[in-house]
Amino acid sequence: VLDASGKLVAPGFIDMHVHLREPGFEHKETIATGTRSAARGGFTTIACMPNTRPVIDTVDTVNYIKDKAETEGVVRVIPYGCITKNELGRELTDFAALKEAGVVGYTDDGVGVQSAQMMKDAMALAASLGMPIIAHCEDNTLVEGAAVTEGAFAKKHGLKGIPNESEAIHVGRDVLLAEATGVHYHVCHVSTEQSVRLIRHAKQFGIKVTAEVCPHHLVLSDEDIPGMDANWKMNPPLRTPRDVQAVIEGLEDGTIDMIVTDHAPHSEEEKEKGMQLAPFGILGFETAFPLLYSKFVVTGKWTLGFLVDRMTAKPADVFGLPYGTLHAGSAADITIVDLETEQEVLKEEIVSKSKNTPFIGWKLQGWPVTTIASGNIVWS
Ligand code: NCD
Ligand code: ZN
Ligand code: ZN
Ligand code: ZN
Repeated sequence: VLDASGKLVAPGFIDMHVHLREPGFEHKETIATGTRSAARGGFTTIACMPNTRPVIDTVDTVNYIKDKAETEGVVRVIPYGCITKNELGRELTDFAALKEAGVVGYTDDGVGVQSAQMMKDAMALAASLGMPIIAHCEDNTLVEGAAVTEGAFAKKHGLKGIPNESEAIHVGRDVLLAEATGVHYHVCHVSTEQSVRLIRHAKQFGIKVTAEVCPHHLVLSDEDIPGMDANWKMNPPLRTPRDVQAVIEGLEDGTIDMIVTDHAPHSEEEKEKGMQLAPFGILGFETAFPLLYSKFVVTGKWTLGFLVDRMTAKPADVFGLPYGTLHAGSAADITIVDLETEQEVLKEEIVSKSKNTPFIGWKLQGWPVTTIASGNIVWS
């Protein structure tokens, strides 16, 4: 018997943007370790990005991931397929076959489809299949050689900055292409004031656009980066306080639909290469709810219902997924959270295979204590 007295009982959290690294980068994470890390964070459904090796551009690779998730994973894993073969931006993958195999959409996460024509073709094809395009927005010519945002930190350290318009130019472009093709266009990890403005405007015109934001872009700005530590390096980068305020307002007014973690594990060896050379990305699953609960709910800025909704019902609605106990005939996805006990983020307690997080040492409330996925206790 489970005792949940005094605890929050919520539908299992849903994370529509995660990197599980398998196949190909098992030294960073595997489906076994990544799904356990998700379970610790209270997530019962996660959608994994295709920048694996091989990338998820064939039915075989989709099946490989689904099989692994079933045999070795502990939560529900839904793969995305690549927009282009090998993520090279040259030739579209077989969207119909990938759909048949069970992908939830097509994406270019981590690279960004650079050609407008290629993106337009992809959107038209996805629209004809009733499937969404999930776009990582970045104009590569504006970001080459940069590791942090254009702002106070870059200035202080004499670094080239990633400008806000590198993201917003693609959001603007892709919103127009979505209007032209009628596709459902979902914007990855929104981080700038300009992107929020463009998405808000597009929604007012009835364009089928949805968007996501990550916890780190809601709680950290570039002014919080303590030094040249690559555990503070991710894509998009931590932006200015003005941008942080804008994405918070975007989430609050419904311009941004949901919260995702963009869980992006990298080994310590890789992160030790330093701010300039280390790969982009930080862990997400295990601190997501405690961070947002502590920062926005404990302080009275958001209701608990608002936060839970953006991590459960909203993503389920947008992507047509079952959640909680509402899918008839199948077992429950439930997360039980201790809202009272304050606990420090300890490196030795991280379940993910990687440890790349800027939040070690933070004292947070709102820790998931029991996670039930498909009726099984997967974290306790
Ligand atoms: C991601 C990764 O490591 O795969 N990195 C990141 O900083 N978010 C790629 C991505 O989501 O763009
Ligand atoms: Zn991305
Ligand atoms: Zn884009
Ligand atoms: Zn990502």
